[in-house]
Amino acid sequence: MNVSTPPQTIRPLSTRIGCVVKAFLRQPVQVATVVPSSSKLIGAIANRDCVRKASTVVELGPGAGGTTAGLLANMRPESTLLAIEKTQAFDQVLQEIADPRLRIEYADAMRMLEFLQDHELGLVDVVVSGIPFSTLPEQVGKRISQSVHEALRPGGTFIAYQVHNDVERYTRPLFGPSKTNGVLWNLPPLTVYSWVKVDIDDQAIAKT
Ligand SMILES: C[S@@+](CC[C@H](N)C(=O)[O-])C[C@H]1O[C@@H](n2cnc3c(N)ncnc32)[C@H](O)[C@@H]1O
Repeated sequence: MNVSTPPQTIRPLSTRIGCVVKAFLRQPVQVATVVPSSSKLIGAIANRDCVRKASTVVELGPGAGGTTAGLLANMRPESTLLAIEKTQAFDQVLQEIADPRLRIEYADAMRMLEFLQDHELGLVDVVVSGIPFSTLPEQVGKRISQSVHEALRPGGTFIAYQVHNDVERYTRPLFGPSKTNGVLWNLPPLTVYSWVKVDIDDQAIAKT
């Protein structure tokens, strides 16, 4: 953990499970899990150089906030994390993460570009998504992926943790092939996909 970042206050796992189960019973397709992300999964998402160096990170689908706290623990003291969550049921548990770097919007991730403008955040360094792309209507999956691509600066990173590989159908035309990392120590076991948005300058240098 970065020594000068504020300490994370997040509810213990046992009470976050209750919160996730309640939200899942109301909106099973959207929430897609009854168990919050494991510490192994959180590490695979947040313990990365791109997160440590980022000025701005966007998280789509923070849920009960385990991944959110993990990202904040690794981010710089002067950075910003914009979290966009569609399920209002996570409001209380997310608000309890008392960290001045965290901004939360309760809305559909399709509105990400609008929120980036509202918060005057410009292009972002990293987008992390737990949204289950396999359950999204085709047009929504396409639109969210396009917004992620548009929101990232050249050289920025998109990270998506998913049970199924449908996300690749949307991202391949925009980002090319993914890097993958299987995380078995999570319920359910899943894959962390990542892509780096091509830096046009790097591409031009490579061609010369
Ligand atoms: C797998 S859960 C996230 C797990 C969580 N990050 C954790 O650490 O335990 C997926 C989350 O995405 C949210 N979600 C699904 N579709 C969404 C959308 N279109 N926009 C924003 N959030 C969405 C769900 O409400 C749910 O909280």
